[in-house]
Amino acid sequence: MSDKKATLKVDGLDETIELPVYSGTLGPDVIDVGALTSRDMFTYDPGFVSTAACESKITYIDGGKGILLHRGYPIDQLAEHSDYLETCYLLLYGELPTAEQKETFVSTVKRHTMVHEQIRTFFNGFRRDAHPMAVMCGVVGALSAFYHDSLDISDEHHRQVAAFRLIAKMPTLAAMSYKFSIGQPFMYPDNNMGYAENFLHMMFGNPCEPSNVSPVLARAMDRIFLLHADHEQNASTSTVRLAGSSGANPFACIAAGIAALWGPSHGGANEAVLEMLEEIGDVSRIDEFVSRAKDKDDPFRLMGFGHRVYKNFDPRAKVMKEAADDVLAELGIENDPLLAIAKRLEQIALEDPYFIERKLYPNVDFYSGIILKAIGIPTSMFTVIFAVGRTVGWIAHWHEMISGSYRIGRPRQLYTGHTQRDFVALDKRS
Ligand code: ACO
Repeated sequence: MSDKKATLKVDGLDETIELPVYSGTLGPDVIDVGALTSRDMFTYDPGFVSTAACESKITYIDGGKGILLHRGYPIDQLAEHSDYLETCYLLLYGELPTAEQKETFVSTVKRHTMVHEQIRTFFNGFRRDAHPMAVMCGVVGALSAFYHDSLDISDEHHRQVAAFRLIAKMPTLAAMSYKFSIGQPFMYPDNNMGYAENFLHMMFGNPCEPSNVSPVLARAMDRIFLLHADHEQNASTSTVRLAGSSGANPFACIAAGIAALWGPSHGGANEAVLEMLEEIGDVSRIDEFVSRAKDKDDPFRLMGFGHRVYKNFDPRAKVMKEAADDVLAELGIENDPLLAIAKRLEQIALEDPYFIERKLYPNVDFYSGIILKAIGIPTSMFTVIFAVGRTVGWIAHWHEMISGSYRIGRPRQLYTGHTQRDFVALDKRS
């Protein structure tokens, strides 16, 4: 915080208004507009494009330079040298763990991977053809009906147990939502396996045969979780904070985050990328779709391109592209038609003035969809996997908020509806 001030002059107001300006450790200064309320004025910022809704120490993004730091560590260094659970520890506690801390953390997460047996019967209430994200919204929210001993948000121990439960159980529930949709038995977690390996085991294993998860694919899966672990105040994280600000329990808050993530402008984009590639169908039709994306009268957008914050490259996309190359080499996939469309589309869009002028680069979802498809994950599960990885980010932000001082989130509005008018009886209405 600093002594800087911004001075605001408003037409029709004699006095000028002095507003405090705060500086973070990185990034632009922010103007504290709280003093406007007492003058009966609010700021207007649809989409929160220029509003900092909170103070946070977890993640920093410089969209212009393509920088993403978790607790100060660049994402590419974490992707190369760390793993998902270690990054979870970093996000939650602020520092990289020592060897002993890491071992304790990993073994504690593993002890929570099973879900209450009655949750299995809960699944039977869904239609088999339900979208797995619909199932996840319901089941994760329902965890608060099963784990009453971690709902007291004022108790630090409860908060810690809820965090472990959510990180540990999300892959189990995600795999269950898939197994349910294809009519196969649910797989119990195997706690001898690593986090991502265990997820692939529960997704693709069956009780009749031993699982054989490729270490290369497990590493790629772990990287996908790691690259999605947190992204500061995005739509779903802000949703979790807003829900949490009312004092709601963590399972309900994370369910709210899952709902916000589902939309195609956010986490649903990885699924939408694959659907778009399938709709394009052939390299010869790319120009037609690029023209549609540029046409203002056509709602079509190139899925997997553009980002609210990154106006340079998305640093996660760079790492994801490398991971995609590893996976495709491991699986010996070179002539996949969708991959050919994706590569050509990327090339055309990067050379097209429309995309260059608007700084629309491929984002993380463009490449993650390709990897997930190569691993054999069905398209409908893509956003679920994003939700599994992002769970730690949601919890870290929720925890940061709850353990500091916070108020219920309550945005205001610019009202443009009717002024006051008298009620009209039914028989007098035209
Ligand atoms: N295809 C074509 N044109 C686009 C695209 C796109 N994917 N994205 C943005 N534009 C254009 C807009 O039409 C607009 O053009 P204009 O200035 O001529 O009107 C300009 O680029 C700026 O776009 P905005 O919509 O103002 O950008 P905003 O920051 O609001 O939206 C968003 C960002 C939602 C990500 C957008 O780029 C988009 O819809 N992309 C496709 C969906 C996607 O990939 N989402 C994943 C985001 S990453 C994540 O959640 C992990």
